[in-house]
Amino acid sequence: MMRTRYSLRLKVTLVFSALTILLLVFQALGVKTLAEVQEEKFISALIADDMRSLIQDYHMNPKRVPPLDPHISGRVSQDDRTHISLPASVKDLSIGTHEIIVNGQEIHVAIASFNHTRIYRIYDFSAYEKHFKKTINALMAGTGVFSLLTVWLAFGLSGILVRQVAGLARQVKAFRLGASTPLNSEKYDEAEVVALADAFNEYHRRMGQMIEREKEFTSNVSHEFRTPLTAIKTSCELLDQDLAITSKSKLRLRQIDRAANNMNELVNALLLLGREESSTDVGPAHLTSIVKNTLDPYADILAAKEVAVIIDIDNQLYVNVNRSALVIILSNLIDNAARYTEHGRVRFTYQDGALWIEDTGCGISSHALPHVFERFYRAEPVRIADHGFGMGLSIVKKICDQYQWAIKIRSEVGQGTCIALQLPLAEKNLMASQKIDISLTQASQTHD
Ligand SMILES: Nc1ncnc2c1ncn2[C@@H]1O[C@H](COP(=O)(O)OP(=O)(O)OP(=O)(O)O)[C@@H](O)[C@H]1O
Ligand SMILES: [Mg+2]
Repeated sequence: MMRTRYSLRLKVTLVFSALTILLLVFQALGVKTLAEVQEEKFISALIADDMRSLIQDYHMNPKRVPPLDPHISGRVSQDDRTHISLPASVKDLSIGTHEIIVNGQEIHVAIASFNHTRIYRIYDFSAYEKHFKKTINALMAGTGVFSLLTVWLAFGLSGILVRQVAGLARQVKAFRLGASTPLNSEKYDEAEVVALADAFNEYHRRMGQMIEREKEFTSNVSHEFRTPLTAIKTSCELLDQDLAITSKSKLRLRQIDRAANNMNELVNALLLLGREESSTDVGPAHLTSIVKNTLDPYADILAAKEVAVIIDIDNQLYVNVNRSALVIILSNLIDNAARYTEHGRVRFTYQDGALWIEDTGCGISSHALPHVFERFYRAEPVRIADHGFGMGLSIVKKICDQYQWAIKIRSEVGQGTCIALQLPLAEKNLMASQKIDISLTQASQTHD
């Protein structure tokens, strides 16, 4: 199952926003509670002050003492602003300040004792409280706006934070193994990204060294192989000219010569398979000559078995390929066709963007067919004399995958095998065919 991965930027944005919003909300709630407590304290202090001076005034000027209201058994001290009649229930309230609701309005009632009676005084802070509530609401709205701003800020900030990482990722992605210039860590400001770039450069340097060693090893191998192979081939040529050698031995000699050629090819194949960068090295190649050249070492074997070779390919046809890759593929396919065909023909055609190789050989059974591209797989019955390893088609498949050439195989026991190898046409052909089209239209126009 694929794990869902979120972008670093999204993660940083989310975490940063969540933390900041949480802090903002906590702060706003804290300020609100503190302000409410302070407001209550402030009101109480205000009332206490006022009541003290009021009682003092009444003591000094008894004339000013309001009349007794039997309804609430006390004296109501009205100021100019508040004209609220108190309910009888205030009788039960203790001395001190109380917050009560009269006619849906929240008021403060201060109760003090005066000459064996009670003095009630009403304070209406509703306008002030309304204002206070408005301020608190503005604070909350401000918190909301700041939260949104935080998300926007976090997104921008995380962009700056991960920009360098993303830049490094892009640089690494565009990096080719063969490229000699290392990543430019100078252009990064963050120490961590620089360390990452340096670590990558170091890794790349070691990889480069490893590849160099491998290249050296493979070229040494192919070089060291060349000397004994040349010796074998020269000996074959010399022996071939020896009159004392019988024709049967000559056939054997040619076999040795071909084996030496095959060995050379195998070395080249191994060299090529290890190169990733060779995938880009493609160009137009003349298909008929490649087929003919690759067929050359097998001509004797096929002629000896009286197997006809038919090349039914347009002589003007060019394919856009890596030449040595195609040679390795073809030599393996031709080797198979030559080896597993005892009579009849081997035919080469180019149709529907694919090279078709058809033989009238022994064929492959349907249960073996899905496995022929596997390494070391050989379909039954295999003759000991074939000396195959079951590697040919697996090499073919690997190269085809490397160049994204589709390969299909169809076979019937006793009938033969047909292989279709998709090869892209070179632009040369397209241009040539366009020319033909133009000349044809021109011709038809003149004809009209
Ligand atoms: N043209 C063909 N006709 C009949 N059988 C084939 C043909 N091509 C391949 N095969 C079968 O597929 C098997 C795998 O082929 P492959 O080329 O991978 O190995 P090989 O020819 O046995 O050995 P190698 O190519 O390594 O020398 C062969 O053993 C053979 O049985
Ligand atoms: Mg083979």
